[in-house]
Amino acid sequence: MKKVVLFFFIQIIFVSAFSNPILESLIYKIRDPQTDKKEFRECLEKIGEYIAIDVANNLKTKKQNIKTVLQTQAEHNLVDENIVLLTILRAGLPLFNGVFKVFPESEAGFFAMQRNEKTLIASIDYVALPPLENKTVIIVDTMLATAGSMLNAVKIVEKRNPKKIILICAIAAKDGIDNIFKHNPDIQIYPGYVDPILNEVGYIVPGLGDAGDRCYGNKITVSH
Ligand code: PRP
Ligand code: URA
Repeated sequence: MKKVVLFFFIQIIFVSAFSNPILESLIYKIRDPQTDKKEFRECLEKIGEYIAIDVANNLKTKKQNIKTVLQTQAEHNLVDENIVLLTILRAGLPLFNGVFKVFPESEAGFFAMQRNEKTLIASIDYVALPPLENKTVIIVDTMLATAGSMLNAVKIVEKRNPKKIILICAIAAKDGIDNIFKHNPDIQIYPGYVDPILNEVGYIVPGLGDAGDRCYGNKITVSH
């Protein structure tokens, strides 16, 4: 596992990039246009699990003793942070499910957003959050493209005084990462993979296409 700590302006920023062939085989699979919806979602869940374990490596831990059936104490380091997991519907959901398997005791919250494909501005349709004060808030979304959707979520979270904000995504555009750090250099980002290009219509290149459609099928426009 390779940790990449980058300098941005004069501040240290945190991007943790795995270089793990198992994780990469899953990224390879979700990029493949032949991968069907079921397998696509399953791969995202596994990616979520692997990245969450990497996140756990960097969380505060405390030593806990347990007396075994042999009446002997064993000491272990367990996570010592109150975690809240948040995701952005639709495409964030399978990745979130994988992260949730690693932190099953966490509270959870949801945003529903839709990116206007012409303006690339994401509108917020629904927000359901538990209390976030002093919590370690992990926001999970499959794609970080312009970062507009993620920044909508981050700004709502920041107002509620979390202890820290961590972002998990399967594929992030370099520009999206830069936009997050321009807004708040203290945020930690764990991308499954960083892609170099954000094209003129806001798609990540090489990317994987529309992540929501790849998970669940094409959506129709519904006015409400
Ligand atoms: C996708 C994805 C992110 C967003 C990223 O959602 O799940 O939320 O795009 O793009 P951005 O960084 O430029 O905001 P989309 O709006 O396509 O909705 P969907 O998940 O319902 O398909
Ligand atoms: N949203 C997606 O689903 N894919 C992209 O490449 C960019 C945003």
